[in-house]
This record gives sequence, C-alpha cells and structure tokens, in this order.
Amino acid sequence: MKTAATIALVCTTALSCACGALHAAAPSGCTSIQGVAPIFGGIQFGAAIVGIFTNYSGNGDGCADCHTTNGGTTAPTGDLDLDPADSPSPYRNLINVQSPWYPGYAYVVPNHPEQSLLFMKMDCDNPGAGARMPLDNYAGGLTVQQIALIYDWIAEGAPAGTTDGVFRNGFDIRGFAQ
Ligand code: HEC
Repeated sequence: MKTAATIALVCTTALSCACGALHAAAPSGCTSIQGVAPIFGGIQFGAAIVGIFTNYSGNGDGCADCHTTNGGTTAPTGDLDLDPADSPSPYRNLINVQSPWYPGYAYVVPNHPEQSLLFMKMDCDNPGAGARMPLDNYAGGLTVQQIALIYDWIAEGAPAGTTDGVFRNGFDIRGFAQ
C-alpha cells in the first residue's frame, strides 16, 4: 500500500513522468515494411483505408467482424468501432482519440505512425499494448502491403481525402527498429 501511495503521489505531482511510465514495453516482433515502396501522398481514408477494416482478406473478412456495434446493439470489441456502417465513423473514432484500454496511447496520431496504437497493433507481435491485430491472425491476417499502407497514410497526416494530406518530409524514417 505504501508503494501504491508513493506512485500516486508521483503521478499527481509530476505530470509528464508517471503517465509515460504507464506505457507498456516498447513494441517488438514487428514486421519490417522496408521492402514495400513508400506512397508519399494521395492515400484517402475512404478509398484506401476503410476497406482494410471491412475486407482485408478479399473474402469479406475484416477488423469490423469484431470491432462493430452490430448496428448500435452491442459494445464493440476492445471498445473500438471500426465498422463504417456505424456512427460515428471509424475515421472519427480513430483520429487523435485516446484508447480507454491503454492509457497514454491514441489510435492515430497524424504524421506519427510510430506513436499510433492502430499501427503498432497491426505491425507487431508484441505491440506493448495487448495482442497483435487482427486477433489470432483472424482470416490469415494482413499483408505487409496493407500494414505499410496504414503507415504511409498516417505519415501523410491521416487525411480523410486527398486535399488535406501533407507530404512526409525526407527525414522521416519509416518503420520500427527491428
Ligand atoms: C477476432 C476478433 C478481432 C479482430 C478480427 C480484430 N480485433 Fe482488434 N481487438 C480484439 C480484441 C479482443 C481486442 C482487445 C484486446 C487487445 O487489445 O489486445 C482488440 C483490440 C484492438 C485495438 C485496441 C483497442 C483499444 O481500445 O485500445 C485496436 C487498435 C485494434 N484491436 C485494431 C484492430 C484492427 C486494425 C483489426 C483489423 C486489422 C482488428 N483489430 C481485428 C479483437 C479483434
């Protein structure tokens, strides 16, 4: 109890330190996306990204098989709704939204895939925040091209459409250190 009280004190007095400490271990076992040619602009959420959530396998299997409210009737798995048939849209649910499960993480931090829980969970066996997605390699999992596309979209600023994207600068090194 004494230790817990001390940690709570540190948390309330030093805003920057203790909350960072809540981050679990750094991601590991990450898939390298270095072999996929980067796409530097023009990745639209509606045209290129949401289809990964609904049908990444090409056979109708997607993240939204689990991450859905089933038309507003259930809580989405992991408290994250990635089903475009639901409201609000997956875009609104992701951009700069904090995870209720993993304190200190936002799902998508525009321009920063390396800080975005969505990318970490798709790219790494040990994301440092729960399991790799799709869970248990559901429907065969993602291709490296799909993972790289998510990275490039976030690095572009996670635009909803082509007009609000910004180009990644030339110094941005893509992917996690392996
Ligand atoms: C078979 C069911 C299933 C599928 C398919 C699935 N997930 Fe999940 N997802 C879960 C469960 C269960 C959790 C909560 C446990 C965890 O975080 O590991 C979760 C959690 C998450 C979280 C963290 C949620 C939070 O509130 O912090 C993200 C992000 C996520 N999933 C993304 C995805 C993406 C992207 C896909 C598709 C590529 C996907 N998931 C496919 C079951 C699934």
